[in-house]
Amino acid sequence: MTEHPTDPARPAPKKLFIKTYGCQMNVYDSDRMADVLAPHGFRTTDDVDDADMVILNTCHIREKAAEKVFSDLGRIRPLKTERPGRGLMIAVAGCVGQAEGAAIIKRAPFVDIVLGPQTYHRLPELVARAARGEGGVLDTDFPAEPKFDFLPPPTAQGPTAFLSIQEGCDKFCTFCVVPYTRGAEYSRPAADLLQEARGLVADGVREITLLGQNVNAYHGVSPDKDATWGLAQLTRALADIPDLMRIRYTTSHPRDMDDALMEAHRDVPQLMPFLHLPVQSGSDRILEEMNRGHTIAAYYKTIERLRGYRPDLALSSDFIVGFPGETDEDFAATMKLVEEVGFVQAFSFKYSPRPGTPAAAMKKQVPEDVKDARLQILQKELTRQWRAFNQACVGKTLDVLLTGPGRDPGQLVGRSPYLQAVHVQGDHSLIGQVRPLAIAAALTNSLLAAPDGPR
Ligand code: SAH
Ligand code: SF4
Ligand code: F3S
Repeated sequence: MTEHPTDPARPAPKKLFIKTYGCQMNVYDSDRMADVLAPHGFRTTDDVDDADMVILNTCHIREKAAEKVFSDLGRIRPLKTERPGRGLMIAVAGCVGQAEGAAIIKRAPFVDIVLGPQTYHRLPELVARAARGEGGVLDTDFPAEPKFDFLPPPTAQGPTAFLSIQEGCDKFCTFCVVPYTRGAEYSRPAADLLQEARGLVADGVREITLLGQNVNAYHGVSPDKDATWGLAQLTRALADIPDLMRIRYTTSHPRDMDDALMEAHRDVPQLMPFLHLPVQSGSDRILEEMNRGHTIAAYYKTIERLRGYRPDLALSSDFIVGFPGETDEDFAATMKLVEEVGFVQAFSFKYSPRPGTPAAAMKKQVPEDVKDARLQILQKELTRQWRAFNQACVGKTLDVLLTGPGRDPGQLVGRSPYLQAVHVQGDHSLIGQVRPLAIAAALTNSLLAAPDGPR
């Protein structure tokens, strides 16, 4: 059966399967690629075996992430070669596309299209070229015109949404590929963002997470075009949208936590008391080698001020262990920071040398077994802190935004102010509402609210 049973002349929609790797900006981009292709007859599918087109929206941040793409391509290849009549089109998008470009087609010649994160508004044209039999279509430009100007308005998919407000990075941390894969920092005009946000809210979105590789470096032109707005001003303007109940932003850089933004945490109740503020290392010497541009003392000061404004602020962070030259003392300093600050959630990684970045060429690379041992110690403590925080929520009442059906019948899942998943028995009509729920138990990956929650 087609989706248009009354119109036999209309071709059946083509099925688009998108796999997303990496950060939330890629999640946003994947949705936008689907939006761009929708008017050209593509409908998304969750079943790769059913697809007419596969897009891998890739991540280049660590070697493992980049290599995963090639193993996945190896798995997809038979879908194309073993059923040649089917005309499966394969595209590699995202940061591996940008970083490796034509080398991908060389290594995997069955790939039809390679594109970077800045050119996916051109997908219909790239697809048309590939369909005409132009092999290995490549588009890894950094176009002067921002892609956002060419994208259709996004469609809401439930009560929460991402909104990319800023892209790229000018900070050049010595370990990081992002300035090369995403290009220079660009902030979208505030008027466009307010319009996109209003549209999402009209579609039922209640929580928006503002995205950027350096989201708090946002400096977009103001709606009346006579000033530049920072993230604080944008947040205050978004908070004026009726029915937008929650605002978050990620990923922020400690260097860009300015006074205005910290004060917004005091003044804007919609701004959730959860902040992802990556510190990477607890050693000033390593931060310097990483070119992070701030000290540990400055990080503590920022946190102290934020907690002064929002005593319930919960913190999350990213850590890298085994950066070149990291000694036992440096690592001990990271552990000290973790113990002193306390994080409710965190991502921790072994340093992965990335081609073309300054740190990859640094002497004193740390042996793999030392990285492994340090990561294990760090993750043990971070897990302990995360579990302790979840446990401390038991017996409290948390405001939960109900976002969708849970795993079991009659169950709903939602999101606490601190980004914890919360399960509760309840009716589907509650989806999209914020309800105060009594937390009864902390499970491995979520909280369980008492059954006498919403009715
Ligand atoms: N813009 C954000 C981070 C984006 S990348 C910031 O400045 O904090 C996400 C995380 O990946 C980083 O915070 C860092 O912890 C990790 N990362 C980046 N490059 C890495 C590398 N070469 N090896 C290991 N982890 C890395
Ligand atoms: Fe990468 Fe540093 Fe930019 Fe973050 S701030 S994206 S870690 S270069
Ligand atoms: Fe990865 Fe690119 Fe995001 S390298 S982390 S997908 S910006």
